[in-house]
Amino acid sequence: MTDKILLVEDEKKLRRILQLVLSDAGYEVQTAAEGGSGVECWKSWQPSLVLTDLKMEPLDGLHVLRYGSDHAPDIPCVMLTAFGTVETAVEAMKNGAFDFLTKPVDHEQLLEVVKQGLEASRTTQKQTADLLGSSAVMQELREEIRLLASTDSAVLILGESGTGKELVAQGIHKASKRSRGPFVRLNCASIPAELLESELFGHKRGSFTGATETREGAFVRADGGILFLDEIGDLPLALQPKLLHAVEEKEIMPIGGEKPQSVSVKILSATNLDLAEMVQEKKFRMDLYYRLNIMQVVLPPLNVRENDVEELANTFLRYFAKEFGRPILQISMEALQIMGAYGWPGNVRELRNVMERAVLKCSGKELTPDCIPSLTEGSECSTKEKVKSLDLVAIEQELLLAALKQHNWNKTQAAKELNISRSALRYRLNKYGIGLS
Ligand SMILES: Nc1ncnc2c1ncn2[C@@H]1O[C@H](COP(=O)(O)OP(=O)(O)OP(=O)(O)O)[C@@H](O)[C@H]1O
Ligand SMILES: [Mg+2]
Repeated sequence: MTDKILLVEDEKKLRRILQLVLSDAGYEVQTAAEGGSGVECWKSWQPSLVLTDLKMEPLDGLHVLRYGSDHAPDIPCVMLTAFGTVETAVEAMKNGAFDFLTKPVDHEQLLEVVKQGLEASRTTQKQTADLLGSSAVMQELREEIRLLASTDSAVLILGESGTGKELVAQGIHKASKRSRGPFVRLNCASIPAELLESELFGHKRGSFTGATETREGAFVRADGGILFLDEIGDLPLALQPKLLHAVEEKEIMPIGGEKPQSVSVKILSATNLDLAEMVQEKKFRMDLYYRLNIMQVVLPPLNVRENDVEELANTFLRYFAKEFGRPILQISMEALQIMGAYGWPGNVRELRNVMERAVLKCSGKELTPDCIPSLTEGSECSTKEKVKSLDLVAIEQELLLAALKQHNWNKTQAAKELNISRSALRYRLNKYGIGLS
């Protein structure tokens, strides 16, 4: 798909030249001659990047920029400024401009900045699907994220599985002044204990058997940005003093290193375990707990967020219908009722998975109760058992779908990827009703 660029510039000649430069480079371009019509075009045409002059009448480039930061924060906005207005340009950067170019505009530089802007927005859009939901708790949460992002203090993110902790971490990064710095996620539960120290702090070549190359750890990679320690409750006790030191002193020592290295990172951590209880039971160090828990955010389970189920279900419906090229337009009343009454132990992740499977399964224009069998079956088992089995089921289904998508629904290759036989794959697809319709 061709990227669309909106160019807002009052000087007719320059507007024409830049339009040519950009369309010659393969972009689709629309132009406007001042801020007001620029914003109108932004609204109706939905560009992927905006280039705007600063000084224009009656409405200037800051008007365009402000519209973007309020309504389309993922779309990079590049300012064009005349020499001598650098201060205003700095002001523009503070207001969220992606970059600025001084006039006369160097064409190569222009194309380079456009390319970088588009790349940057693609990465953030891929990583940070927005935190959806207009319930009061979710609105408060979005406010809270802004607050949590405004300082360098550590934030502990708590909440049941699937409530959106990772999305919140990404949201804090995006809203913080470190947003242009790296966002590095380390999952403490998925890395073997003996490798975790090196993953966190790095190692020097030859410092242990197998250390054939010097390697940077997550702290160093996150320097200038944010380090997200996911599943922090699974961090082995033995490593906790070293992490505490790194967080307190803002310096790390790679394995086999001789002198400490200082780093500037904001630390976010998340877990669905009860950390306070783990501290009581001496399974997690109290001093580290207090260090990571300077600020705290707790995500509510999905079933207490009024109306969010319906809103999220509709959003996921549109998303998957588009992705799978299905004509489904709406969710039937009965299906909505079932979804509203259901407990959602796997929270938003479960809802998302249910919608993905439902869209695959459903062939009509309406999503009916028979497209969401997992919500109506097995109601006789206790909630706790259900949570457990649903978690496993959700994980397995996630893996299956990911492998299938990665290989364009080629079952032989997907089975290879998953390291199971083709018939084992077919059995699982049948079991979950994936891709049958
Ligand atoms: N408010 C939300 N709006 C849109 N999508 C959401 C929301 N909350 C969660 N999701 C989606 O649900 C899934 C699970 O979210 P996420 O990975 O952030 O959960 P988590 O709290 O980290 O869970 P776990 O404890 O299991 O790691 C993701 O696909 C995420 O995009
Ligand atoms: Mg998570």
